[in-house]
Amino acid sequence: MEVVIVPDAAAGGEIVAEAMARLVRRKPDAVLGVATGSTPLPVYEALATKVRSGAVDVSRARIAQLDEYVGLPADHPESYRSVLRREVLEPLGVAMDQFLGPDGTADDVQAACEAYDAALAAAGGVDLQLLGIGTDGHIGFNEPCSSLASRTRIKTLTEQTRVDNARFFDGDIEQVPHHVITQGIGTILEARHLVLLATGEGKADAVAASVEGPVASVCPASALQLHPHATVVVDEAAASKLKLADYFRHTYANKPDWQGI
Ligand code: F6R
Repeated sequence: MEVVIVPDAAAGGEIVAEAMARLVRRKPDAVLGVATGSTPLPVYEALATKVRSGAVDVSRARIAQLDEYVGLPADHPESYRSVLRREVLEPLGVAMDQFLGPDGTADDVQAACEAYDAALAAAGGVDLQLLGIGTDGHIGFNEPCSSLASRTRIKTLTEQTRVDNARFFDGDIEQVPHHVITQGIGTILEARHLVLLATGEGKADAVAASVEGPVASVCPASALQLHPHATVVVDEAAASKLKLADYFRHTYANKPDWQGI
């Protein structure tokens, strides 16, 4: 995998947004897989800036959701569908009928998960999947010891993840659902390009374990090591526990610009 160390979150957002813009210029109806949470926000802001300046038109792109809370009404402000509408689709000028996501309110959750995997396949698969990483190494909401071959399914959030996410629910952990639908690790690995973005010191241990540790389900993000085109973009703080940081800096500094990430 390629590791790109950037000075700060804004620089990471710019690099990832540029990769998305290059993809969409080449393939206007590309499927962009998006994550929620705080980390990807600089990416969406940088991409929206490019859209506003006319540097790229993403209006034909399709936007695919990574995960969704189970049981939150779709119009709840913190359902990931609402969050993505607000933070991604509206600023980018993408219509809701180009949005792909699982139904977190379905009575038959398992059928909703299978329907979502089928919808992703029918769309031709995800071209670029943006991922954040949990402090415990989760990607999507594949918590530690999730099968590396897993498909989209229901998962129970760890208490740590619920504590981490309480900030989106007025700091009240009781409001954070216990369950989510998440693309499985096997589903995520089918995307053509995986881009994991991590910023801040709190992610340093998870990044080091994912990049330099063994491939192991106890650290779900280590599954990126199995992917032929995986890029990990980290700021200095998130990179601070990487033993090979100097090597990663050297290779990126000497990479031809046309190659992108
Ligand atoms: C959310 C998701 C999660 C987050 C992770 C990090 O869609 O897939 O894996 O990316 O929990 O969240 P932040 O970026 O808020 O630290």
